[in-house]
Amino acid sequence: MSFGAWAIGGSWGNVDDAESMRALNAAIDAGVNFIDTADVYGMGRSERLIAQLKRERKETIVVATKAGRRLSPHTPDGYIKQNLTAFIEDSLRNLATDCLDLVQLHCPPTEVYYRPEVFSALDDLVSAGKIRFYGVSVEKVEEALKAIEFPNVQTVQIIFNCFRQRPADRFFSEAKQRQVGILARVPLASGLLTGKLRRDSQFAADDHRNFNRHGEQFDAGETFAGVDYDTALEAVEEIRRVLPAGVSMAQFALRWILMFDAVSCAIPGGKRPEQVAENCGASDLPPLSREQMEAVAKIYDSRVRALVHQRW
Ligand SMILES: NC(=O)c1ccc[n+]([C@@H]2O[C@H](COP(=O)([O-])OP(=O)(O)OC[C@H]3O[C@@H](n4cnc5c(N)ncnc54)[C@H](OP(=O)(O)O)[C@@H]3O)[C@@H](O)[C@H]2O)c1
Repeated sequence: MSFGAWAIGGSWGNVDDAESMRALNAAIDAGVNFIDTADVYGMGRSERLIAQLKRERKETIVVATKAGRRLSPHTPDGYIKQNLTAFIEDSLRNLATDCLDLVQLHCPPTEVYYRPEVFSALDDLVSAGKIRFYGVSVEKVEEALKAIEFPNVQTVQIIFNCFRQRPADRFFSEAKQRQVGILARVPLASGLLTGKLRRDSQFAADDHRNFNRHGEQFDAGETFAGVDYDTALEAVEEIRRVLPAGVSMAQFALRWILMFDAVSCAIPGGKRPEQVAENCGASDLPPLSREQMEAVAKIYDSRVRALVHQRW
């Protein structure tokens, strides 16, 4: 179980840096050693909080950041060495380090995966000692399959949760065979899979769950995993019926992800220490039973599959 640091940067309503630091510290207290962030999460805010965490803690903390989304317009032609180098220099400053552990291309347009020169530029940045490893964050399974044809792509970050199951169909076996790491993002379907959301839940104006439900600002799949809100709430109620005693829905949903051995980590977001502690508790749970796995598969097939399976 790792930590996703989007929400502590912004786009999820109001955040308080002191509370975000407590959330980050709760992750390290629980044994987390890997954090996912991006240069655009609060335009450096998330990265700078992580730098502060690294100053305060002695534990080894591996940080994955992302580059590319500051391009405006966000087009394939922007993915050139000069721009990537500039983004990486900014992340190095924000994270207060001289070499980034892992840099992921941040959901670039599909065309970028057909431009080997982009990956050569990343190889050059590795040779220059600016980044240790690189990977990609993708929207679609096909992008993931194409990306791992480049031999130095070490990781793929992809949406994978009880409501987004297609990556397990073909991509996981391929990634495992090539020893490519998988970061399962949006593991709680933006909070839906915690079971706390209701039909009348309100979200702040600057929370993407308010302004991006239909992909108004970025890919619709990033908000509620792309599932229609009301349909998702019905599916959540069905999952609630199969929860084991003493296990929260968030923990169940995260443990479900860890049932797939190709997955290197899940990166749930969290703005509060209690959320983070609860989420990390998922790694201590016993494996889900065959009946529980089948129940989730059935709920996906009957309620969710038609809405998402062939879209990403
Ligand atoms: N394109 C990309 O590369 C991309 C896109 C999206 C995400 N990501 C990465 O993936 C990470 C995870 O995805 P995500 O943050 O979008 O979604 P998520 O992990 O599915 O949901 C996170 C949100 O759910 C709520 N939550 C978390 N734990 C909870 C708990 N135990 N109880 C109740 N509520 C809880 C919190 O929001 P509230 O408390 O406000 O409800 C939290 O911000 C991100 O942080 C980011 O690192 C990357």
